[in-house]
Amino acid sequence: MTNNNMIFIANWKMNGEKSHISGINKTIKFLKQSKNKKNQIIYCPPFTLISSVKNKVKNTKIKVGAQNLSQLNDYGAFTGSVNSKLIKSAGGDYVIVGHSEIRNQENDILINKKIHSALKEKLKVILCIGETYKEKKNNKTLSVLKTQITIALKNIKKINNIIFAYEPRWAIGTGKIPKSSELRKNFKDINNIINKLKKNQKYKIIYGGSVNSKNVLELKKINDLKGFLIGSASLRAKNFIDIIKKSTN
Ligand code: 13P
Repeated sequence: MTNNNMIFIANWKMNGEKSHISGINKTIKFLKQSKNKKNQIIYCPPFTLISSVKNKVKNTKIKVGAQNLSQLNDYGAFTGSVNSKLIKSAGGDYVIVGHSEIRNQENDILINKKIHSALKEKLKVILCIGETYKEKKNNKTLSVLKTQITIALKNIKKINNIIFAYEPRWAIGTGKIPKSSELRKNFKDINNIINKLKKNQKYKIIYGGSVNSKNVLELKKINDLKGFLIGSASLRAKNFIDIIKKSTN
């Protein structure tokens, strides 16, 4: 099966020097040569690099996103905070919300406020959901996902600008990924939860957590999986491109 309508998100986390930006040239070159024109590539560098990355990709269909945002809509005296308006004006098209690496400092209600704020400014949202290892071991995955999704989507009417990123917290940066059977079940559960809350709406679910150019061959077999949120393997253009090539061939 050829997948040609997938999303590939590079989450650079707290990395990003000049060498990383020039690496995007390789992705641009790859895209030009690729027959596959429907895939969506999104770079999420640190805030400091959003406008430089935007400038780099300006004549391409590559999009740029931030890794987090303040829930506050208006400008003001909030030292160190960056809100949706600032992201938008720096050239951001997307924003990651509820990333597992920050979820222990945030709760679901705050995540819901952030989503409202992002959508109000017409930023698209990459909403991270997923269980910890302890929750998985205690068979709590379904109830965790249900709570995370239900509260995140409170009073959100349309979800067509939300990408759901299933990122089991225990799979991030560990080299471990869920078994195919677990992933199938969790994707089915996520679909059921979303469909119950928001009937007949279009959305996409992607996977994140230790994705690399080897395990992607297994991961891409999961039905309903429409792309990847990639951390460390997105820092080198070659690895990132390898993942895209292998998932779409
Ligand atoms: P790794 O790919 O490094 O495990 O990180 C995944 C992630 O957190 C992407 O948001």
